[in-house]
Amino acid sequence: MSDFRDQVIIITGASTGIGRATAQAFRRAGARVVLAARSEDVLRQLAHELGGPEWAIAVPTDVSDATQCEQLVQRAVEHFGRIDVLVNNAGMVVSGLFEFLQPGDAEMQFSVNFFGTLYCTQAALPFLKQSRGVIVNVSSVAGLIGTPTTSVYSASKAAMNAWARALRAELRRYGVGVVTVCPYFTSGVQLAQKGILRQGSLHHRPGRPRRQAPGTQTADEVAQAIVKATHRRPRIVVLSWAGKWIWRLDRCCPWLIDWVMSWGLNRLL
Ligand SMILES: NC(=O)c1ccc[n+]([C@@H]2O[C@H](COP(=O)([O-])OP(=O)(O)OC[C@H]3O[C@@H](n4cnc5c(N)ncnc54)[C@H](OP(=O)(O)O)[C@@H]3O)[C@@H](O)[C@H]2O)c1
Repeated sequence: MSDFRDQVIIITGASTGIGRATAQAFRRAGARVVLAARSEDVLRQLAHELGGPEWAIAVPTDVSDATQCEQLVQRAVEHFGRIDVLVNNAGMVVSGLFEFLQPGDAEMQFSVNFFGTLYCTQAALPFLKQSRGVIVNVSSVAGLIGTPTTSVYSASKAAMNAWARALRAELRRYGVGVVTVCPYFTSGVQLAQKGILRQGSLHHRPGRPRRQAPGTQTADEVAQAIVKATHRRPRIVVLSWAGKWIWRLDRCCPWLIDWVMSWGLNRLL
């Protein structure tokens, strides 16, 4: 495990799943962590478990509100005096066939996954320039290929990927790294339970239990990959053997991925 002693890490979406596991992994690596999400009680309990105010603080934040993102960064700097890493992990999913999405669904999707990332990054940037730090964006394999029944989720992650690529070039001269991490399916997380589920969603099919896809990782495995990527600062990390294969296949024969997705969808709907 890399050494992050004396470093201060902000993690959005730290109350559950990948964000929570990432906070725990950074603490094990010696970092001080700033935990952001909307669930205040859960965050406070986690901050306590991670060692209390010397090591971890909870800052209730809705990332879709730019003012709250600025307050998150201010609070982190007031308490710990610096910011070395921002992990933009907060996310939600709108799931269902595009034709059945409701007015406001796509806006909600982008306000959390995409605009939340932009707001936190813009607020943290002056401090990341001082520390020559790293921005880590938790994207998705869905953002690389566009997955049916999560079309606007895929679009929000694709937007994040394109923005991150441009930002990486802009910030290179300041020594600030920008890393995109694309997890594949992750087990034991609540993404779908807290999301917006519309007709055709594969996340909610009463009487038909969801089978775990081959190549699914645990939140702890994704967290370890995030910590490693923060240390090494690659442009992009695609996770799990299945995620890597899909990504490679899509670049050499996209028609095959199109065909498999249509075929799979017809079987599942
Ligand atoms: N699960 C997967 O299979 C998978 C695959 C690829 C990528 N990802 C990505 O991984 C990231 C983490 O998701 P997860 O799988 O760990 O799901 P999760 O357990 O549902 O975690 C989502 C986190 O985001 C927070 N959040 C949601 N809306 C927010 C808002 N408006 N403001 C602040 N925080 C908010 C949630 O906390 P509160 O509800 O307390 O605010 C929670 O801590 C997401 O960006 C997701 O797109 C997940």
